[in-house]
Amino acid sequence: MVGLGNRTLVCRPAVTGVIAVAVAAVAAACGHDAARRDPPPTRIVLPPLLAAMPAPTATPIDPGYVGPEVCGECHEAKLASARKTSHFRTSRPATPDATTAPFGGDAEDVVVASPVDPRLRIVLLAQDGGLWQVGLDGRSQERVARKADVVFGSGKLGQTFLYWEGPFLYELPATYFAPPVGWRFSPGYHEDQLDFSRPVFGQCLECHALWAQPGRPDLVYEHSYVGEVRWGVTCEKCHGPGRDHVAWHRAHPDDTEPHAIVAPDDLSRERRDDICMLCHSDHGEELQPAFSFRPGKVLREFYSGPRPGAPPPPPDPGNGMAAMPDVHSNNQMDRLRQSACYRGSAELGCVSCHDPHTYERGDAATFNERCMACHDAATLSPTRDAAAGRAAVRHDGAAPCVDCHMPRARTEIAQRPGGEDEARAMIRDHKIGIYPAP
Ligand code: HEC
Ligand code: HEC
Ligand code: HEC
Ligand code: HEC
Ligand code: HEC
Ligand code: HEC
Ligand code: HEC
Repeated sequence: MVGLGNRTLVCRPAVTGVIAVAVAAVAAACGHDAARRDPPPTRIVLPPLLAAMPAPTATPIDPGYVGPEVCGECHEAKLASARKTSHFRTSRPATPDATTAPFGGDAEDVVVASPVDPRLRIVLLAQDGGLWQVGLDGRSQERVARKADVVFGSGKLGQTFLYWEGPFLYELPATYFAPPVGWRFSPGYHEDQLDFSRPVFGQCLECHALWAQPGRPDLVYEHSYVGEVRWGVTCEKCHGPGRDHVAWHRAHPDDTEPHAIVAPDDLSRERRDDICMLCHSDHGEELQPAFSFRPGKVLREFYSGPRPGAPPPPPDPGNGMAAMPDVHSNNQMDRLRQSACYRGSAELGCVSCHDPHTYERGDAATFNERCMACHDAATLSPTRDAAAGRAAVRHDGAAPCVDCHMPRARTEIAQRPGGEDEARAMIRDHKIGIYPAP
């Protein structure tokens, strides 16, 4: 049985390296053997006490975001459709409905244990409408419970969980990876401790939320926020703040000429793709604070692009396949640019194949249609079976084009020391080409 205690720490003060007297006092309060000489050192890492943290200095500003519900007043069908997309669902308040991950009841029925020491465990609990992660160190009998405030990720590859400590945002130690992997320590965490202290910086939110205002904008790596965070990658992320647009059209209900909103269709291919590249690329060093970029702007004025001197992108393994991308699959543009389709066409960009307002994952027929906007069935090589060392050709229009021309590659999603052989999610290689038989 795992009690939650209160919302914060149950049995220890919230600092590491506390003086021995305090440890003994707390151990006594928790009913452990207070006389024990050397209590085992803590393996549960908590964030610094709030009082020890520098307070945010910024006052909340209003950049003019109104949120998707307001857009829905006049663009009802778009909103209804967009609501189902992974973009909209990529960050949300943590309710049991917001997650695909299994949480247990009162008993310890959903647990992830450290592969290094099984006495170090995280129990996942759904209680009182909340999602909890309870860290237990069976060696020191420590126990820490935190309630998730935010679910991060729609769940295709996985979901991680965040919590607030005052104005500071932290990641919880357990992450759920899509089946068949399941619960693991959060990616990149040491497995010999339970870390509740990892900050969630503005860059993280910039890609996974509409708007958040860093509490100290002078700092590049900042994890305090002032004002309301607007969760989800929603309408105004790609169309810019909508306040003036909405005010105009409310005041002029008969005007069908759009005012004060970014229409990506009117942008050049580079500027239109920059909207997507803000999040779907290795955008490099920050040149301006997170959340400065707006649709229509030149992305390179906000992010430097791949860092000079940075390790080169993973080598192409030589069989035409992408090297294994990481969970952030940030190579779509690099790969697309290498394709004959991109080089041979002046307009091909991300939205040639993706409708950002519709959930289309797995919809092979729709993607086939997008290919056929440029490729004429009559001029493709005839359909034939694999023969004499050549791959099969299925140009009947029914077989999914991308199964042969944009094969899936494994991601490094759950990679960890000793876990190399774990099953991994697969994502599409965006270098469109002719590959060996799938
Ligand atoms: C009070 C009504 C109203 C609201 C609310 C509203 N719009 Fe519009 N919007 C319009 C009208 C009218 C047009 C022009 C006709 C059309 O394209 O549908 C338009 C057009 C657009 C266009 C197309 C622009 C173009 O040049 O083709 C975009 C993009 C857009 N709106 C986005 C949004 C977003 C994002 C929101 C929420 C922030 C929003 N709208 C809220 C009325 C509204
Ligand atoms: C440069 C933009 C960017 C940054 C920074 C970023 N992400 Fe992501 N993240 C993405 C994109 C894009 C995807 C989707 C990849 C895909 O669908 O192929 C993603 C996917 C994810 C997923 C899996 C979502 C799912 O359901 O499949 C999780 C979890 C996640 N990110 C967490 C984080 C956390 C935590 C941070 C900060 C520590 C972070 N991301 C920083 C862009 C970003
Ligand atoms: C991920 C980026 C993204 C998001 C999120 C997004 N849009 Fe768009 N939107 C685009 C792009 C790109 C275009 C132009 C290409 C196209 O039509 O697909 C566009 C086109 C439009 C248009 C004009 C063309 C048309 O189809 O009528 C309207 C209106 C619009 N969006 C409204 C919205 C509303 C309302 C929302 C939220 C419910 C929204 N968009 C969310 C990227 C986005
Ligand atoms: C603010 C950051 C951001 C912007 C801008 C953005 N994306 Fe995304 N995109 C994400 C994140 C984060 C995810 C992963 C969502 C998840 O699964 O949690 C994602 C997922 C996707 C997916 C996978 C959807 C799925 O269900 O598998 C596609 C396709 C995609 N984005 C295309 C685009 C295109 C095209 C544009 C530009 C019009 C764009 N994105 C703009 C952040 C962004
Ligand atoms: C915007 C137009 C456009 C779209 C959309 C498009 N292509 Fe292409 N594609 C081209 C052009 C242009 C070429 C180069 C033709 C040439 O050189 O003769 C090409 C070449 C190719 C080739 C030959 C590749 C090589 O390396 O020789 C393949 C295969 C291909 N496309 C498949 C696809 C598939 C599959 C899709 C859909 C997922 C698609 N294309 C979508 C324009 C497009
Ligand atoms: C020629 C067509 C085409 C173009 C152009 C294209 N994509 Fe895709 N993309 C696809 C297809 C097909 C899938 C797989 C869709 C599915 O889930 O069934 C995909 C999947 C994705 C995913 C989810 C990863 C996965 O495989 O689950 C992301 C993210 C994405 N695309 C982003 C982009 C971005 C960003 C651009 C512009 C740089 C782009 N795409 C351009 C066809 C395209
Ligand atoms: C079963 C695998 C497979 C599928 C499905 C498939 N192709 Fe191909 N495609 C090939 C192979 C293999 C080649 C190389 C041509 C050859 O070997 O003669 C090719 C060649 C091409 C080319 C280069 C020009 C040519 O005709 O040789 C284009 C363009 C193309 N495919 C587009 C498509 C489109 C669009 C679709 C979906 C309607 C599609 N392919 C479906 C395997 C496939």
